[in-house]
Amino acid sequence: MHMRDLFANDPQRFENFSAKIPGLLLDYSKHRITDETMNALLALARACNIERQRDAMFSGNKINSSENRAVLHTALRRSADEKIILDGEDIMSFVYKTLFRMRDFSDAVRSGTWTGCTGRRIKTVINIGVGGSDLGPQMVCEALKPYAERMAESCGQTVDLAVRFVSNIDATMLHDTLQDCDPETTLFIVASKSFTTQETITNALGVKAWLLDTLSDETAIKRHFVALSANEEAAMQFGIPPENIFPMKDWVGGRYSLWGAIGLSICCAAGFDVFQDLLAGASAMDHHFQSTPLDKNIPVIMAILGIWNRNFQGYPAQAILPYAHHLQRFSTYIQQLDMESNGKGVTADGRPVSVASGPIIFGEVGTNAQHTFMQLLHQSPEVIPADFIMVAKPVPPYENQHKKLLANALAQSKSLMEGQENSEEPHRNFPGNRPSSCVVLDTLDAYHLGLLLALYEHKIFVQGVIWGINSFDQWGVELGKTNAKHIIDAFETHKKIDTLDSSTAGILRHLTQKFIKF
Ligand code: F6P
Repeated sequence: MHMRDLFANDPQRFENFSAKIPGLLLDYSKHRITDETMNALLALARACNIERQRDAMFSGNKINSSENRAVLHTALRRSADEKIILDGEDIMSFVYKTLFRMRDFSDAVRSGTWTGCTGRRIKTVINIGVGGSDLGPQMVCEALKPYAERMAESCGQTVDLAVRFVSNIDATMLHDTLQDCDPETTLFIVASKSFTTQETITNALGVKAWLLDTLSDETAIKRHFVALSANEEAAMQFGIPPENIFPMKDWVGGRYSLWGAIGLSICCAAGFDVFQDLLAGASAMDHHFQSTPLDKNIPVIMAILGIWNRNFQGYPAQAILPYAHHLQRFSTYIQQLDMESNGKGVTADGRPVSVASGPIIFGEVGTNAQHTFMQLLHQSPEVIPADFIMVAKPVPPYENQHKKLLANALAQSKSLMEGQENSEEPHRNFPGNRPSSCVVLDTLDAYHLGLLLALYEHKIFVQGVIWGINSFDQWGVELGKTNAKHIIDAFETHKKIDTLDSSTAGILRHLTQKFIKF
C-alpha cells in the first residue's frame, strides 16, 4: 500500500495517528501503518512486558544486568518527596544534596563570588569530558544559549561567562580552546563518571600543567578545578579537594547523566533556575510515560514505530532532523544515546539477538540537511525513516523567516510521503511512501527541551525491552580502549611493535619515521 492512498482514503488520518501532551505534538500519520498495524505492534509491546519493565526501571530494580546496576537517571528529576530506596539507602536525599551544591556553586561562579586564586572573577568555564560527560551538557548549553541570555537580561543580571567543551584527545582541540583563555579567570570542570577515561584524564593533565605554568600558587587547583565523578578517590588523587567534587552514582549511565552532577556546566551557562526547568520538563515526560495507556503513550508509540521500520520493513537507519539551529548538537547526542544503548548483538541473557537491533542514527539541522543527504532519502532504493523536530515559537523579528523554516520541514515530510511519479524521466521520479514522524515543540526553552530528551530516552528504553537487550551497558567500546593502550605503549617505547598485526605495525613504523622528522 502507498501512504498516498492511506491519506486519500482517510481524511481523519492526522487525528487518528497523532498524540499530544502539553507543549509537544507527535504526528505519526506518515508511517506505513493502519489501525491493524498499530494494534499488532501494541500487542507485541505488551507481550514484551513493557509496563512491568518500565516500572522495574523507575523503582530501582537492577535492570542493567551485566553490571548489576539499577538504572535511575529518572530519580535525578523526581520531586524530593518521592522516596526511592536503593540497597537500603534513600537516594533522593543524595540527589537533592548534590543538586543544592550545584545551585550554590553555579550561583557563586555566575555572580562572581567564586573567584580564581588571584581574586579575579571567572570568565571561562571549560568542561573536560567525553561521550556522555560532554555531549549532553554541550547540546543543552547550545540549545538554551539564547534563552539563558534572555533570562539573564530580564533579571537584570550581567553574566559574562563563556562555557566551552573539550572532549577529543586531539591536542588541537585543547590548544584552540585555551588560545584566548587567561589562567586567572578560567575554571575547569573535569567531568568523568569513571575518572579513568583516557581522553579526559589526558586533557585534564594538560590543562593542569597549563594552569600551574602561570599560577604556581598552591591554591590554584582548589579555585580552578572541580570534578564531577563517581570515583571520588581518583579525583582526589588528581589533586581536586573533596569539597570541589560533585558526586554521581553508578545507577546513572554516562549517556543519561546530564540531569545530575554532569549538568554543572549547564547550571553555569544558563543558571540553576533554567536547569530546574529542564528537569521539570523531563519529569513531565516521565509521568506521561509512567501513567499513560500504551496506545496514547508518546515514547511507546515512537518506539513501536521504530520497531516496525527496523524489523518489519527492514530499514537500516534513522535520520534525526531538528529544524532548529540551536539543536545543532542534538543528532550527535541522540547518536550516542541510541547507538550506545541499542547497538547490541546479544540479548540481556547473553544469546545472539535473533532480529536486527538499534538502527544507524545520523542527522543534521534543517535546512542544511536538505542540501547534504536528503537526496538519498528521497530517491535511493534504501528507505530511511526520519524524525522532523520543529519549534512553533518564532524568533522575533524574523517571524516570516521562521514560517519558511517550518514550511521546509513540512515540505520534506510531505515529499517523502507522497513522492511524485514521473515515468518519462526516471531521474525525476520520487517513489514516496517513505516514513517520517513530526515532533512539534511549543518553544525551545529548558522545559520543552527536557520533554524532548526524556521522550527519546524512553523510546530507546522501550525498544531495548522489545529486543530483549540491556540498553544500559556499553561493552562494545572496551576493546578499542584496550588496544589503544597497547598501541600507545608500542608507539612511546618502540617495543613490541612486532607483536601487532602487520597493518598496525606497518603504519606505526611509518608514523614513527614521520614523527622523527617533525
Ligand atoms: O564511550 C564510552 C563511555 O563509557 C560512555 O558511555 C561515557 O559516556 C564516556 O565513555 C565517558 O565516560 P566517563 O564519564 O567515565 O569519562
